[in-house]
Amino acid sequence: MLSKALDLTAPATLPGTAAAPRARPAVRLDGVVKRFGAVTALEESWLQVEQGEFLTLLGPSGCGKTTLLNLMAGFLEADAGEIFIGDDLVTATPPYEREVGIVFQNYALFPHMSVAKNVGYGLRVRGVPRREIAARVEEVLALVKLSGFADRSPRQLSGGQQQRVALARALVIRPKVLLLDEPFSALDKNLRGAMQVELKEIQRRLGVTTVFVTHDQGEALSMSDRIVVMSAGRVRQIGTPDQVYRHPQDRFVAGFIGDVNLLPGRLEARAGERATVAVGDLRREVEADTLRDCATGAAVDVFVRPDHLGVRPAGESGTLPARVAALVYQGSHIDLHIDLHADLRSGPMSGGRVVVRMPGHGALATYAPGSPVALLVPQAGLVAFPAEPGSPNGQAGRTGSGQDDPAR
Ligand SMILES: Nc1ncnc2c1ncn2[C@@H]1O[C@H](COP(=O)(O)OP(=O)(O)O)[C@@H](O)[C@H]1O
Ligand SMILES: [Mg+2]
Repeated sequence: MLSKALDLTAPATLPGTAAAPRARPAVRLDGVVKRFGAVTALEESWLQVEQGEFLTLLGPSGCGKTTLLNLMAGFLEADAGEIFIGDDLVTATPPYEREVGIVFQNYALFPHMSVAKNVGYGLRVRGVPRREIAARVEEVLALVKLSGFADRSPRQLSGGQQQRVALARALVIRPKVLLLDEPFSALDKNLRGAMQVELKEIQRRLGVTTVFVTHDQGEALSMSDRIVVMSAGRVRQIGTPDQVYRHPQDRFVAGFIGDVNLLPGRLEARAGERATVAVGDLRREVEADTLRDCATGAAVDVFVRPDHLGVRPAGESGTLPARVAALVYQGSHIDLHIDLHADLRSGPMSGGRVVVRMPGHGALATYAPGSPVALLVPQAGLVAFPAEPGSPNGQAGRTGSGQDDPAR
């Protein structure tokens, strides 16, 4: 049970800051830049983490997630810009004085210290009295479900248990911000799932502001209040899981968050916030915002999730002609791989192949490889972007526009 006395989120050493206005963001990055020699690991970035928020930095390996986290922690010095934690400008403050709790992928426990000594370390260096340390260590070990493990050596613990110790060690100092860098990526899949749920529970209970790094889209979607999608040192989009999943602002975000198909289309018309795109003989409405740089008549790629598509008997009106290529059994669902009719197969990237995700197993009995079918493209869940070289529509040459921007 978590008693009132265990307020892990209260500042441990600076009582005066407890009364800071709640509306202030917990962390703020203003125009922060980080370079390593010729490599710009983080381009000029602005970011706010709200009090009590669970914010995830998501992106492929090398995109700058760890760099951003280490700038918040104080392990790296920014080349430009300012970093605030609460009201304090900390750009030049060493890690120890930032009052942040950090959990790394590789546990990084002290191998020669017991679990209790590991967890209490941050309190000892801060000069907290021995009796208080003992009580706080006990309470935080209970929080991570490791009561009774206090005297063990880290070597006697499983990977998951070691990561709980690392979490306890980060929380015991009552950090202003909890920073976690791919904390579960070394754990096997089942354990990872359990740890995700548990971390979320602990975070909610304590209300501790959390910045979590992962390259795993599912992990980000399931845990976060907001996600910061990054690529190549740039913040691409910041939004709730639903916003980045259903309303991606650019091609990178659309392709990175979850599985996606690209259908070749053309921008037909634009009216205010809506645009009409043609895919074969179909007309569909999409948001115009993602096509703002696109000329009428230009080639577009229409992004659609596998679970949004459907399949009908061949020849049904209002569909696209296609042929079943393969059925892939996935347990809870079947992925139906479908080849669009040759007229729609233009680009080298997908070759006009789309995946339709069908719940249950009915598809196995219904669709034989090689049989003609009709692809149902619903109105909902479509997002279009200007076609790019290398994308399905980018080398089609049907319109000759939308692909000559040298910056792309
Ligand atoms: N200490 C360093 N020295 C030189 N380059 C680095 C250093 N740390 C990171 N980088 C480079 O900065 C970029 C971002 O790295 P990183 O933040 O670790 O990415 P991520 O955590 O998203 O995988 C990469 O190109 C990486 O090679
Ligand atoms: Mg990293």
